[in-house]
Amino acid sequence: MVALSSVERWEAIVPRLEAARQSHLLCFWPTLGEPSRQLLLADLEEIALESLPNLVERCVLGDEASSLPPTSELEPVVPERIADAGPAAHEAGEQELSRGAVAAVTVAGGQATRLGFDGPKGIFPVGPVTGRGSFHLFAEQLHAAGKRYGRAVPWYVMTSASNHCATVAWFEAHGLLGLARDQVRFFVQGRMPCFGLDGRILLAERGRVAFAPDGHGGMFGALKRSGMLRDMSERGVRHLSCFQVDNPLVRCLDPRFIGMHALAGAELSGKSLAKAHDREGLGTFCRHRGRLRVVEYSELPESMATAREADGRRRYDAGSISVYVIERGFAERMADAGLPWHRARKRVAHVDCATGRAVEPSEPNAVKLERFLFDAAPQARVWLVVETDRDEEFAPVKNLTGADSVQTSRAAQVRRACRWLREAGVEVPVGEDGEPAAVVEFSARVAQEARGLRGSVPGGLRIAPGSCVYLGPDGVHAVER
Ligand code: UTP
Repeated sequence: MVALSSVERWEAIVPRLEAARQSHLLCFWPTLGEPSRQLLLADLEEIALESLPNLVERCVLGDEASSLPPTSELEPVVPERIADAGPAAHEAGEQELSRGAVAAVTVAGGQATRLGFDGPKGIFPVGPVTGRGSFHLFAEQLHAAGKRYGRAVPWYVMTSASNHCATVAWFEAHGLLGLARDQVRFFVQGRMPCFGLDGRILLAERGRVAFAPDGHGGMFGALKRSGMLRDMSERGVRHLSCFQVDNPLVRCLDPRFIGMHALAGAELSGKSLAKAHDREGLGTFCRHRGRLRVVEYSELPESMATAREADGRRRYDAGSISVYVIERGFAERMADAGLPWHRARKRVAHVDCATGRAVEPSEPNAVKLERFLFDAAPQARVWLVVETDRDEEFAPVKNLTGADSVQTSRAAQVRRACRWLREAGVEVPVGEDGEPAAVVEFSARVAQEARGLRGSVPGGLRIAPGSCVYLGPDGVHAVER
């Protein structure tokens, strides 16, 4: 095939931009040098211009995806309790893991704007003693699973155009965290242009379109496009254990959860928590005409958020912690079907076409379109929601300070570590505020639940008040602070 020159490509794109009512994207063309023209053309050719006017009408100027069914049709979901899962579920999960039918999938393509971290969120220091990032903490869990189940569990990490290179480079620089090369796979999610409030696409620079990742729901399409679904099929993977990068307490491969999912024959299963308060920033699991539906917290009507049962309990209380087990075949179907777009108003820096000036907005000036992974839920013919324990499994890092921050997450990690140690018979000092009076972290290779810790802590272990202790696979380390 003969490559087209930039003039020929320009001639081809002009009428398409006109038809899409986006001709302003070429406003700086005459001022651009050849390399910049090439980059701009590549950006423009990436956009599905033919379907754009319809998309803009429906989802940028209108708000199609957020149209909820009437609230009277949304019933609460009563989850099964993971703590009540019998040994059969645990055994079934372990069996799936032992026969290599499970893969871990981490969605890590987000931009971490609230955290204000200019790098992949998975390397942000969250370990209370080691300062390890969540990628490292998850890798420890995968090592432990490999040892327990006698085979390496494949790990698929979704990145985005903005953090792919940095993520892969970091893994390489850290020897893939000791995992085997063919155990870790990276795949890049798609991206969407950012729109001005009038529906016109914004330019990030004179010769570059402003793009943003297409949301964690982009996972399905990206898994397919990148060949990862085929890779999974070749490896015999049936269940995808999916979780977000920003919850250091997550159980990446929970045998009970996987077992409950497998025994139910579910296509999609989600983990829930009882909400901390009416407006907690979690999706809400609901039942709609027999199917599962997750209502995003920003879209939850006040009447549902505050609704109470006759006995005073919160009616819609099953909050989603974005941990799912998904069947591979179901992921294939979702990749083909596509998910709806959600509109988010955000601040997006751009170059003004009229003045040529760079604009750093202080108020939301743009619309980003995102897909949400949980919008796949209504398509699942068989589904399950399983309630777990907040203190054991959920401490997200969304912000630098305040709620759901690095501090709250580290504190929750220390509390869990100390609780497990106490259950294993180790004395742990407590401060006047009832919080642990020491900082403790241990590797998932030492234990992945309280039970596992009994027998693996050295006899006579004492945690001194004010100390900082790391329990690794090679023993106990007191760390200077
Ligand atoms: P969040 O909704 O918390 O977004 O993502 P974020 O981008 O990390 O942070 P903010 O909103 O900019 O502050 C929840 C999870 O979904 C992933 C994130 O990496 C995180 O694990 N995600 C989000 C993606 O993988 N892709 C996206 O496009 C968005």
